[in-house]
Amino acid sequence: MLDALHAIAQPAAIRRADYRPPAWAVPDIALDFDLDPAATIVTARLTVARNGVADEPLRLDGEALELLTVSVDGIAIDDWRMEGDQLVIDLPGDAHTIETKVRIAPDRNTQLMGLYASGGNLCTQCEAEGFRRITFFPDRPDVLSRYLVRLTADKARFPVLLANGDPIAAGDAGDGRHWAEWRDPFPKPSYLFALVAGDLAVNRGEFVTRSGRTVQLGIWVRQADIARTEHALHALKLSMAWDEQVYGREYDLNVFNIVAVDDFNFGAMENKGLNIFNSRYILADPDTATDYDYDAIAAVVAHEYFHNWSGNRITCRDWFQLSLKEGFTVYRDQGFSADQGSAAVKRIEDVRGLRAAQFPEDAGPLAHPVRPDSYIEISNFYTATIYNKGAELIRMMATILGPQAFRAATDLYFERFDGTAATCEDFVACMEEASGIDLGQFRRWYSQAGTSRVAASIAHDAGEGRATIRLAQHQPPTPGQPEKAAMVIPLKLRLFGAETGRALTDEQLFLLKDPAATIVVDDVTERPVLSINRGFSAPVVIDSDRSAADLAFLARHDDDPFARYEAMQQLMLDTLVAAAIEGRADHDAVVDAVADTLANPDLDPAFVAEAVLLPSEAFIGDQLAIVDPDAVFHAREALRRDLGKRLADQWRSAYAAAPDGPYAYTPAAKGHRRLRAVALGYIAASGAADAAGLAFSLFESADNMTDRQGALSALANGDAGEREAALDIFYNRYADNGLVLDKWFQTQALSSRDDTGDVVRQLAEHPDFTLANPNRARSLLGAFGANQRAFNAADGSGYRFLADQLIALDKLNPQTAAKLMPPLGRWRRFDPNRAALMRAELERIVATPGLSKDLFEQASKSLD
Ligand code: PHE
Ligand code: ZN
Repeated sequence: MLDALHAIAQPAAIRRADYRPPAWAVPDIALDFDLDPAATIVTARLTVARNGVADEPLRLDGEALELLTVSVDGIAIDDWRMEGDQLVIDLPGDAHTIETKVRIAPDRNTQLMGLYASGGNLCTQCEAEGFRRITFFPDRPDVLSRYLVRLTADKARFPVLLANGDPIAAGDAGDGRHWAEWRDPFPKPSYLFALVAGDLAVNRGEFVTRSGRTVQLGIWVRQADIARTEHALHALKLSMAWDEQVYGREYDLNVFNIVAVDDFNFGAMENKGLNIFNSRYILADPDTATDYDYDAIAAVVAHEYFHNWSGNRITCRDWFQLSLKEGFTVYRDQGFSADQGSAAVKRIEDVRGLRAAQFPEDAGPLAHPVRPDSYIEISNFYTATIYNKGAELIRMMATILGPQAFRAATDLYFERFDGTAATCEDFVACMEEASGIDLGQFRRWYSQAGTSRVAASIAHDAGEGRATIRLAQHQPPTPGQPEKAAMVIPLKLRLFGAETGRALTDEQLFLLKDPAATIVVDDVTERPVLSINRGFSAPVVIDSDRSAADLAFLARHDDDPFARYEAMQQLMLDTLVAAAIEGRADHDAVVDAVADTLANPDLDPAFVAEAVLLPSEAFIGDQLAIVDPDAVFHAREALRRDLGKRLADQWRSAYAAAPDGPYAYTPAAKGHRRLRAVALGYIAASGAADAAGLAFSLFESADNMTDRQGALSALANGDAGEREAALDIFYNRYADNGLVLDKWFQTQALSSRDDTGDVVRQLAEHPDFTLANPNRARSLLGAFGANQRAFNAADGSGYRFLADQLIALDKLNPQTAAKLMPPLGRWRRFDPNRAALMRAELERIVATPGLSKDLFEQASKSLD
């Protein structure tokens, strides 16, 4: 009995196989908002039309709504009923008009889903299922409607009233109130609905589309931030031009507005014609934003803009197809960013991100396919797998098809599915049809979770002049998928001669389709070195037996910048893994390779900075059967110190090489700043007596946040007197800038010092810390969870702290709590003591009364 009750209390899973088309279509909706933070009245008039012949009642989703009235065809009714969270109305005919009136309280909405208050303004977030917290509606992405929206609000408090589409009328409503009407001519799903009401300033611009239409652009922020919007506006114009040139996609409305808000669960949202952004992805000036921030802003502005076609004009049939819009749009924004600067460095950054976030996900308890089969809470599936591995799938298809066929395929996709809600299968079918290439086996990338591994080796028969490459693929088991079929893995390969350093072959694209394959290459007259997975052509792990000498050779001679970087990383990784496991510290090969890279005048400083950076502690840990966080940390620190000492002169000259002059956001200047920060890190790691002084003087003299934050991080890891001084100066200088204060919290939570756990627990009590703001919560808790050694303190204090915070955060904002949980779920990767401590915290979370579906799903799956 108890068990049965328990089972009933557990939230149910939704399955992809259960998809049914909607029983009712809603071709038109008119929404009327009487806005007030404490009590907003929403009147919704829906035209509904029976879809097919089914004799189904109308079912409208609703959550946390106070229902006031319901009418059908203009007549109030009371024979409606609630089934769970659904309002159910029996309708006699095939077409009706339904009107509902509800009351909601935006100022009590701490989940930040639906209509909520942020900084005194009102805004919405509807993806994935937030619209049901605004009004009753079939809140699913395959119900597409034309929206007419009327907003009425206090004129002094909310002078700006925005919604999707084009503004059509506005006026005075008397009593100090005013109204505005907006119409969006493009049918859209409810998750793309948005409104904003507030006291906002605007930075306006214009874009003339290739067919000569002028689009009015606006970036809306609070008055004090208006000077920080130029970069975002510029990025928007670049994105609009890029999508025309590269994908033939033109913007379709007369206005495009972006609003920045401080309280936001994700990065940004692509609502039709009215993107709403986390302010961290809009606001920038040299004094407060790093180069990394500038890059991220351009990438996210582009991403949301590109969704206008890949997401809005063509949306998803159901949420299992989420990667249809997200994987493709990430691929598109990566292409955009690659075209703005160094494509090689962008690829390296993207792969590093994939390895930091997606590989661990794919190897852990929350692993899921790019097109999942089931979920409890869809918000938990906005993951690195859906986004970043999804983008890798698109990239592999682009590689297999080649640029012309890929463009023909995307043209076909946009044309055929415009105005519809499509599936991943629709997309792949277009790739096949436009190219004539069979992607039957490729589809497994959508259904099989886990990171594929490829074992690669090469043998040389000097007498015959023949090289033999042997490849074998392995698909590791993941939850619910113990066994898997072979994938098609596109591997770019090339051979180099160990003696002469020259290329022995052209680059070849090899499709590994079978469990194992052999490639024979003739006329190989000297010992060949294998360059494989060039450009990271497939998101897999390569297990090769290449020696340190061969890796060092590739780091020097490979003509593919990614492969060069990769050889260096592999060399470092092999060295660090050996050191962590056996305590053996033979640093010579790494030191030589780093010295060579630093000395090579042909290399771009931005590339050098990436190439000489050691793999993260977490990534080193991922290579071990059981992670020993202290051994990993000490092995890495020892190598950092050794590199710092043995190459002291080279770090000093790299540090000094950056040209002086005022801040400029150009690829060249960015590269110099990046290398300067990396060099400073090594100088500090060397233990040089003047390191803290050097960092502090950069901290004080810098005219930009990139250098200042780089210097602060270097200081934050050490224990020089300058450390406290710099943290205090930084805090006081930016006390009124929330985004910069986030950096202050984050830098301390990422510190490699022994006392970081204590410091983080103290910071959670700091007056500026709050769980109510997702950026602030992430700046401390997210950074701490990513600090492998501090978080995994052997006494379990890190686990207990995070669990306490998650339980508290879950009451306010379940989505953000659930997103911060995964570090606690990695217990299988640790020793039995740590594993038991982590499991105890997961069990405590699952047993918490009133736990959200979001956190329940993450924590319970992590215990399995
Ligand atoms: N669709 C948004 C994006 O990727 C992400 C998002 C999801 C934002 C859910 C808010 C809520 O651009
Ligand atoms: Zn997106």
